Amino acid sequence: MSKDGSNVTDNVDAVGGPVAHIPVMLNEVLASLSPTSGETHLDGTFGAGGYTSAILGKGANVIAIDRDPDAIEIGQALVAKSEGKLSLVHGRFSNLDDIALEASSEKLDGVVLDIGVSSMQLDQAERGFSFQKDGPLDMRMAQSGVSAADVVNNADHSTLTRVIGILGEEKKASRISRAIIDARLSQTFTSTLQLATLIEKTIGRRPTDRIHPATRSFQGFRIFVNQELQELCDALLAAENALKPGGRLVVVTFHSLEDRIVKKFFADRTGGSGGSRHLPEITIAKPNFSQIKRGAVTASKEECEINPRSRSAKLRWGVRSDVAPRKKDLSIFGLPNLKLMES
Ligand SMILES: C[S@@+](CC[C@H](N)C(=O)[O-])C[C@H]1O[C@@H](n2cnc3c(N)ncnc32)[C@H](O)[C@@H]1O
Repeated sequence: MSKDGSNVTDNVDAVGGPVAHIPVMLNEVLASLSPTSGETHLDGTFGAGGYTSAILGKGANVIAIDRDPDAIEIGQALVAKSEGKLSLVHGRFSNLDDIALEASSEKLDGVVLDIGVSSMQLDQAERGFSFQKDGPLDMRMAQSGVSAADVVNNADHSTLTRVIGILGEEKKASRISRAIIDARLSQTFTSTLQLATLIEKTIGRRPTDRIHPATRSFQGFRIFVNQELQELCDALLAAENALKPGGRLVVVTFHSLEDRIVKKFFADRTGGSGGSRHLPEITIAKPNFSQIKRGAVTASKEECEINPRSRSAKLRWGVRSDVAPRKKDLSIFGLPNLKLMES
């Protein structure tokens, strides 16, 4: 995880002003997705349009999705420039098969996902993802539904501990959730700094700590509020439905919880599970994907130097076979049972 959890970096000009963002591992994404003229690819995480622009640049058509209405609004300039080659949809990538079907009757040649929050979202204090600057305790990528403040102010001790401990990978989760519940007796949490300050006071900060003590808890709340792990699992299964034989699925992740999901998916779908050499061959599921490279691809040393946020990026990809999609079964992912309350 990068210090602030973002996957897109700002390129800073000579006077320190942001110029443009640099999409993470763009060369590696293009090499594995290999878009060509006349093909149709789906970019499930449009963001600032970095991947989409590059795919359009190769002559392919793009169906792009983002759940953030701001990304869709800003992306209209690229839609206008694309001369009908880009269709930009406000929605969630967990529905990418339905969205693709609505946009085109053909199956897809490629699906790319760049998981996480964009620097555009992080940099705006009013979106409430960051505690570098104070902002409302929000963290909703879609700008609707249950906010981080709703969770912090209402969830019980067990839920808070699991969100912070499992999704934030914070060892001192129970102490933090107890402190939140005690503080709630006299105050309502409304701002990012208010929560970050309480966490720092509760678990302390050693001079040798590389990251702020609230970083992990904030990651947990963000993943929970946006149901990011569930979204990723659903998107992988949806991509299996939407890709044509020979179509490529490329996923870039930024922390181990997400990478583990993608790894499990490819292990399951490339025939790495479900069979045993002691059982008759008939029980072994035919692979729905093949992988040229089994391990994760990471950013080059040069990219990591220019863009520190790419240091934690892992890219995994596979090629769809002609075997029919499997029945939807989320148990292969072993997700924690952490459902968001109703808004
Ligand atoms: C890291 S950014 C993508 C950056 C993009 N690759 C680029 O080059 O500009 C991730 C984007 O995905 C969007 N996103 C995250 N989860 C999503 C979901 N479940 N469905 C649709 N969009 C999602 C976020 O709103 C954000 O804009």
